[in-house]
Amino acid sequence: MMNKRFYLIIWLCCLPLLMMAATRQIKIDTNTLSLVFQVGDNGRFYQSYLGKRLHSQTDLSQLALGTEAYITHGMEDYFEPAIHVVHNDFNSSLLLKYQSHEVKQASDGASETIVTLQDDKYPVTVKLHYVAYVNEDIIKTFTEISHQEKKPVELQKFASSMLHFNNAHYYLTEFSGDWAEEVRPAIQPLFFGKKVIDTKLGSRADMFVSPFFQLALGQEATETNGEVLLGTLGWTGNFQFIFEVNQLNGLRVISGINPYSSAYTLNPNEVFRTPDFYFTYSFNGTGEASRNFHRWARKYQIKDGDKTRFTLLNNWENTSFNFNEEKLVSLMGEAKDFGLDIFLLDDGWFGTKYPRNDDRQGLGDWTEIKDKLPHGVGYLTEAAKQKGVKFGIWIEPEMVNPKSELYEKHPDWVIHLPNRDEYYFRNQLVLDLSNPQVQDYVYGVVDGLMTKYPEIAFFKWDCNSPITNIYSYYLKEKQTHLYIDYVRGLYNVLERVKAKYPNLPMMLCSGGGARTDYEALKYFTEFWASDNTDPIERLYIQWGYSQVFPSKVICAHVTSWNRNTSIKFRTDVAMMGKLGFDINLSGLNADEATFCKQAVKNYNALKPVILDGDMYRLVSPYEGNHTSTMYVSENQNKAVVFAFDIHPRYSEAVWPVKLQGLNPNKQYRVQEINRMPNARGGQYAEPKTYSGEYLMQVGLNLFSAYGTNSRVIEVTAE
Ligand code: GLA
Repeated sequence: MMNKRFYLIIWLCCLPLLMMAATRQIKIDTNTLSLVFQVGDNGRFYQSYLGKRLHSQTDLSQLALGTEAYITHGMEDYFEPAIHVVHNDFNSSLLLKYQSHEVKQASDGASETIVTLQDDKYPVTVKLHYVAYVNEDIIKTFTEISHQEKKPVELQKFASSMLHFNNAHYYLTEFSGDWAEEVRPAIQPLFFGKKVIDTKLGSRADMFVSPFFQLALGQEATETNGEVLLGTLGWTGNFQFIFEVNQLNGLRVISGINPYSSAYTLNPNEVFRTPDFYFTYSFNGTGEASRNFHRWARKYQIKDGDKTRFTLLNNWENTSFNFNEEKLVSLMGEAKDFGLDIFLLDDGWFGTKYPRNDDRQGLGDWTEIKDKLPHGVGYLTEAAKQKGVKFGIWIEPEMVNPKSELYEKHPDWVIHLPNRDEYYFRNQLVLDLSNPQVQDYVYGVVDGLMTKYPEIAFFKWDCNSPITNIYSYYLKEKQTHLYIDYVRGLYNVLERVKAKYPNLPMMLCSGGGARTDYEALKYFTEFWASDNTDPIERLYIQWGYSQVFPSKVICAHVTSWNRNTSIKFRTDVAMMGKLGFDINLSGLNADEATFCKQAVKNYNALKPVILDGDMYRLVSPYEGNHTSTMYVSENQNKAVVFAFDIHPRYSEAVWPVKLQGLNPNKQYRVQEINRMPNARGGQYAEPKTYSGEYLMQVGLNLFSAYGTNSRVIEVTAE
């Protein structure tokens, strides 16, 4: 009896400890990934593990404590912190202790873990959010910072996420470039010290470097092999990724808004919510990491991610600013004739006092140019309806030419220095979206057009200038809020547009592909990837974007860039993304026109595979003179393979392309499509049947020794 009581007492005494043990470890799982945190005896919060999913509960107790999860400024750490807060008494230290955590189902079905940390001396609270999309293997993280000090505190650093790694080797891939040469991958090993990728462009995330990266762990990753983390920040403004390796070869990755010139005054009880950082971790190379992102983005993130996309004819490359009603109506007829869904009127349709006949004036004045469009946009929407196509229109509502009525009326709405000469990027300046009045005006550009012309069915929303001459009349003494409040102001506007016009597809453009981030894509169905539409360059650019973004958001148009390539080559390249044409269709010869019309039909039939299927990058253009990519439907019954010869060497030997993602046990019919009307011969001109196993083990002969040659192969389960 005595014994039993003794054990009961011991057990009761231990119960709190056991319960502590349960709450002291927090595990966030997706299908293949675990992220494990522990609370130390000192009450602080540590990342113990990030890697392949751990299944055994007992193993978890073996994990070492690890590294403090969200490292603060002012304590004992000697490297880059995630957060830096200056308190009312000018003390700028922070020591965060675990308070509590909760797990809840997020509204979109994902599982969200919220960990509340609190400083032990100051009333500052930091909530770390981890949202796990279990089936897609994506984790979204963000941070909320708040306080109850008497007066505002100053936030100097405010990371969305901090992650820790312990590997022998790290290989970082960044995606850098410039206008017309976006997303060029460059791999570099990380050694002791810090590598920073950031931008300071204000109104856009990128121009010189994209807001995403790959981090291969242990060894370099390939498309199909290796451990690789793929991460991206959803923020349409200045971003920063810091990769810092310490003396023990531990790596921390800090992601968030670039704190450059952005110290933020936070009022008591106000919550500073950082943007989202999203990552996936693949154990089978970069291809799988991309597919995780593509599936997740279509299901959870991008506007109308589950819907199809429209093909279009744009007039920009064809007419530039030189058009009139008659010309536009004839282009609408051509769009219809070629089977395209939308006619998109680009820049140059507006400006009364300062007609926008080139890019030097008129931006900001969204009324039709009288001599170009005497009957207004309504006439065009009506004409489009009669021709049987939808009508889309270009706007750049956040910007202003100094030569405009808007600038004359509201110089204080413009970001520019009151006491210095203005500097122009493409002859324009940026409006101050931190100002709610300006937000109303920008919203009003869309709302005004939609109210007056409800038949408008598509917008191309452009943003050509980064913020220059940085000064806000509205923010007065809070100038360091401008970079952040600009982007928040933009989201306010986009939120209103989406709420009132939930079914309006919109393309996001930024002088090419400078606004390519997942927060913006909540509001946009697609983005313009680059002004460079040379199909050869596009093979590389689209390859770059496909690392993170699904094909349905990557706009790819057939244009006249690089006339040395055939219309077939250009169309085949554009068909790998969201297809459009921006070319003088009436200038095509009969065979070319026949080819294009058939290609549009093929594309429409294959949209479910190209836009919603799984993408496999088979042969990289960076590794030779050829490239190939394929798309496979979820049920593995349909696939399309694109293959391109770029610039083969004389008498170069070519190898079969091994397909991926098929069912090895199924029989597939293979046939070349998108052939020119006069094409002769070709191994797959007539249908042939192979097993999935054969196609993946032996492959198809898709490459040739001819320059700028292309093939599109349809693969259908029998
Ligand atoms: C930007 C875009 C182009 C076109 C022009 C119009 O450069 O990237 O596609 O819309 O603006 O001025």
